[in-house]
Amino acid sequence: MRILLFTGKGGVGKSTIAAGTAALAAAKGLRTLVLSTDAAHSLADAFGTPVGSDPTEVAPLLFVQQVDAQLRFEQSWADIQRYLLSVLDVAGVDPVAAEELTVIPGAEEVLALLELRLHAISGEWDVIVVDCAPTAETLRLLALPEALGWYMERVLPMERRLVKALKPVLTRAAGVPMPGDTFFDALERLHAELDQVHDLLAGPMASVRLVMTPETVVLAEARRSYTSLSLFGYRVDGVVANRIFPTGDADDWRAGWVMAQDEVLTQVDQSFAGLPIWRSEYRSSEPVGVASLTRLAEDLYAGSDPLAEPRGAGPYRVTRTTSGAVLHLALPFVTRAQVGLARNGDELVVTVGSYRRLLTLPAGLARLQVAGAGVDEGELRVRFREAATTAAQER
Ligand SMILES: Nc1ncnc2c1ncn2[C@@H]1O[C@H](COP(=O)(O)OP(=O)(O)O)[C@@H](O)[C@H]1O
Ligand SMILES: [Mg+2]
Repeated sequence: MRILLFTGKGGVGKSTIAAGTAALAAAKGLRTLVLSTDAAHSLADAFGTPVGSDPTEVAPLLFVQQVDAQLRFEQSWADIQRYLLSVLDVAGVDPVAAEELTVIPGAEEVLALLELRLHAISGEWDVIVVDCAPTAETLRLLALPEALGWYMERVLPMERRLVKALKPVLTRAAGVPMPGDTFFDALERLHAELDQVHDLLAGPMASVRLVMTPETVVLAEARRSYTSLSLFGYRVDGVVANRIFPTGDADDWRAGWVMAQDEVLTQVDQSFAGLPIWRSEYRSSEPVGVASLTRLAEDLYAGSDPLAEPRGAGPYRVTRTTSGAVLHLALPFVTRAQVGLARNGDELVVTVGSYRRLLTLPAGLARLQVAGAGVDEGELRVRFREAATTAAQER
């Protein structure tokens, strides 16, 4: 099974390209599902047919789903929310206001990805295509379980025992209801499920494609996405340059655009060297419906396999050296000075700009010492060595 995610700035053509790629996969005889985690739900518009919250067949082997995030949200969050509401009630917060307070922005989107997990383990699909919300904020949120891992594994079970033991006393003394088993169970279940989604999407069968239009501002954003996606362990396996003006018979206005786009396209080639860059022309009308979308995808991939397995080892890997090991993390476009590194027990905290990842070190690395770090060829390399080794031996 293959999972393809499409992301990019708003309006660049994510839904169109995702829908087209899915239509092409189905035309090749693969059981294909395309779903959207974007609340804007433009998949139905792209296919030009109404789409339900269950997979709807729009062409042979081609299914479309508009995830009902609200429903998933209520199922996964209900027990946690119920507890929070009871606390807020005691605190005298108006129930309607309290309801609003317990809704986390972005949470619905993340929970839409839980639906993806169910589909992935169902074994029903050869290909799952995901039309993501703009600029992969959602994918970043999926790193949350990793960041909370330490708390969930060590602190939560302790708290749970403690609360259980003290509950009768505390509830009477403080007047605040103590969380019950359903709260802890719900929290643990949600944590485990999100963790599985992250593993799935950072795994070898999944890859992310950056959709962009050849405009400076859009390119800048796509570059930032490439960096942050890599930081969080997602593999980018290609770039789609969409809405390129055709060159022939251009009037002055269009000729101007062609020139401006050409310049940006050169920068795109340089920025994403080594990745396939698929190009799609600006059509004379909106590509709507299975037939137009399939044609668009055929032109886009121009005979190359749209489902080809991504090459290379992915953004994160560990290699052994004679004196220890090196952790490699792809971080395109950044310099060493822009990367913050800190060791926190068996975690490595990597910061780039406003993004921070808590990387849990594999056991083999956790017992080693950090000997140094550098950024080379778009990759952060952290050198580890045996605790007893001196710097002289390192060299
Ligand atoms: N190659 C193209 N040629 C012409 N129109 C396009 C092309 N790609 C996308 N569009 C149109 O641009 C608009 C935005 O595309 P959409 O896929 O909804 O973007 P996003 O999902 O990124 O917000 C839609 O009206 C779509 O039909
Ligand atoms: Mg869209």
